[in-house]
Amino acid sequence: MTVPTALPAWRSLEEHRREIADQHMRDWFENDPQRFQRFSLQWGEILFDFSKHRITDKTLGLLLQLAEQSGLRAKIDAMFAGDKINVTEDRAVLHVALRHRGDRAIYVDGRDVMPEVRRVLAKMRRFSEQVRTGQWRGFTGRPITDVVNLGIGGSDLGPRMVTTALTPYHKEDLRVHYVANVDEADLLDTLKGLDQETTLFLVVSKTFTTQETMTNARSARDWLLTAAGGDESAIARHFVAVSTNRHAVQAFGIDPDNMFEFWDWVGGRYSLWSAVGLSIALAVGMDRFEELLEGAYAMDEHFRTTPFSRNLPVVMGLLGIWYADFFGAESHAVLPYDQYLRHFPDHLQQLDMESNGKGVDLAGRPVDYPTGPIVWGQPGTNGQHSFFQLLHQGTHLVPCDFLVAARSHHELGEHHRILVANCLAQAEALMRGRTFEEARAELAAQGVADDRLDLLAAARTFPGNRPSSLFLYPELTPKVLGSLIALYEHKVFVQGAVWNVNSFDQWGVELGKQLARAILPELEGGQTGDHDASTRALIEHCRRLRGTA
Ligand code: F6P
Repeated sequence: MTVPTALPAWRSLEEHRREIADQHMRDWFENDPQRFQRFSLQWGEILFDFSKHRITDKTLGLLLQLAEQSGLRAKIDAMFAGDKINVTEDRAVLHVALRHRGDRAIYVDGRDVMPEVRRVLAKMRRFSEQVRTGQWRGFTGRPITDVVNLGIGGSDLGPRMVTTALTPYHKEDLRVHYVANVDEADLLDTLKGLDQETTLFLVVSKTFTTQETMTNARSARDWLLTAAGGDESAIARHFVAVSTNRHAVQAFGIDPDNMFEFWDWVGGRYSLWSAVGLSIALAVGMDRFEELLEGAYAMDEHFRTTPFSRNLPVVMGLLGIWYADFFGAESHAVLPYDQYLRHFPDHLQQLDMESNGKGVDLAGRPVDYPTGPIVWGQPGTNGQHSFFQLLHQGTHLVPCDFLVAARSHHELGEHHRILVANCLAQAEALMRGRTFEEARAELAAQGVADDRLDLLAAARTFPGNRPSSLFLYPELTPKVLGSLIALYEHKVFVQGAVWNVNSFDQWGVELGKQLARAILPELEGGQTGDHDASTRALIEHCRRLRGTA
């Protein structure tokens, strides 16, 4: 297994990076009227503009060679074929099967998984229709008005993000809430305005052992039972489970008929397409949920079959590698100009950072090159009035993704036009910048005194040459959203493949969980365990503050 840094294309890219170090994108645009045409791709409804990147034809050619030399083609084929590419957990990685709309069989261990996938989708349809039409009744016979999704990580972020993104498609008299944090404030605040008789809980946990979710689920069950006079038969009307762990679901007291299954070949952060997305289906209806799947499937097919040079996730992934490994960019900003996409960066944080935040390669060797970036962001235009200052004039290079719909679902006065104008302007400003001379001339024209010109012009100079991608689509429909999410999933795949890491395990989350289990009883008194002096002192101080010393 070759390390990526030893590949010929990697070496050439290092050299090429030095060649273009002093070149400015502004000049490239001026000298090449076709630059946008050459560095943009229209795929379905999505336009991907990557012309505002520090790339030339040669850069792209070398990056594509890097993809080839990394064995990306074979790795994509292995994922779609159901090979156990998650080597540390010995599992296939088949979230693509969840949204597969064709007739092809997809095998895991020699068994076609598609009949099971379709069976659960049909069960989701039946159930969501019953709840949405009011046929499903609570323990006093009233229809459901509020759904509370209890889950964390992939069992929360994806469904929460999609449900919020598709707000214009919601059924108005059915509200969907999300509770993730074990901090009781999350649950209590959510339950405050709700009625036990009309609230349905979805306990969503792949393992059904996650401390936060199970703690919230037990408290929610107590809340229900208080109103039901302790009658446990009420649980069947108010609790359903989404899990791979049938045994634990039953032990919790949830009727197995009210369990929606998924499978160990679906990673938590890739699970919104499964029954983990039940809250989405309840909010927008199963037809819309299936449109979301269709959008993702179209992207899967594009990723699987399109030559790398025209393949959106491939190009996007390679651009990220270019900055992370050759420019030392440590982070990546995702900036949706869409209030409904406000949870998109949160979802991508888990998707990207849990997948590629890895320090050993597939052979278990420590890597000596940067892997997954720190992903962050929030919707525009809000960010423009806080952190964009650093993006424009700070000392860090932060590649950005802008996402924007040409039309809004509402079209209130000038709002949307202003939103779009700002989005396009930010990408332009990051690329072009403003030279010292331009700033100075502007100030002089405004009559600024000569002795202040240099100081003020320096502060108003923008270096520019700061890279961004822009995704433009007509409207944020379920289908477009499905494609966008799948695009990011496959981008993460491409990067993991080149970095030669396992993008599908997450062992880094385990140690903290283990230590928390040890500390938990110690907070109540008794012997403190084997801790460093700081942790021991903190436990003891906490006990004193809680009055349990
Ligand atoms: O702790 C990390 C993690 O395992 C994520 O990968 C996962 O999405 C989340 O916890 C929740 O896990 P579960 O769905 O099993 O409750």
